[in-house]
Amino acid sequence: MATIAPSLLSANFTKMGDEVKEIESIGARVLHIDIMDGHFVPNLTFGYSMVKALRPISGMIFDVHLMITHPLDYIESFAEAGSDIITVHTECDDDLDKCVQLIHSCGAKSGLSIKPNTPPETLFPYLGRLEQILVMTVEPGFGGQSMISECLDKIPVIKAECAKFGLSIPVMIDGGVNISNVRTAAKAGADMMVAGSAVFGAKDRAAAFRELTEGSVISD
Ligand code: DX5
Ligand code: ZN
Repeated sequence: MATIAPSLLSANFTKMGDEVKEIESIGARVLHIDIMDGHFVPNLTFGYSMVKALRPISGMIFDVHLMITHPLDYIESFAEAGSDIITVHTECDDDLDKCVQLIHSCGAKSGLSIKPNTPPETLFPYLGRLEQILVMTVEPGFGGQSMISECLDKIPVIKAECAKFGLSIPVMIDGGVNISNVRTAAKAGADMMVAGSAVFGAKDRAAAFRELTEGSVISD
């Protein structure tokens, strides 16, 4: 069974606190928070003050996805704001070793993400220092896109490399997860799946969250 992490990007921005409380009440343990700088991706979302504002009202794991060109400038602020996991992109302009080191020195867990056109091997030099891997299954920037299912093929490649070194790093996928592809994604090896529109956009969010979670069970 995979962990479904609802993405705040698809929440109702007029009532963020209530949205977060609701998503926690239906059983979500991880909240995915998308940070965009209008440069790394052609969209803007929110800053660390949103993380800070939401922190006192939630016990969920705050999984912060930095889609920004210069994460080094902001890692400390996001950590201080209460991020539990901070993920940066291999395609950013900053030194990845420094990013991972800084995230750890701030007391957070470190993730690295790859965009759809980035080969999984790009992650290999960092595997021993990561607590999470984020495989994008859409081009980052917007919620509500269709999954690029070929991206799932990267998961077994990453897992095989981890296994060589006795590592067991959770692999999360992000983008286009819904009830019709959740099982395929689980079979490909996704341990965690971000779900924005599939949860927040559902009429019955509790049912959608439960169905996605149950849909990720692979019995064979
Ligand atoms: C896209 C973001 C995703 C987004 C996913 O750049 O990284 O986290 O919220 O939304 P859905 O699940 O609607 O594709
Ligand atoms: Zn994301």
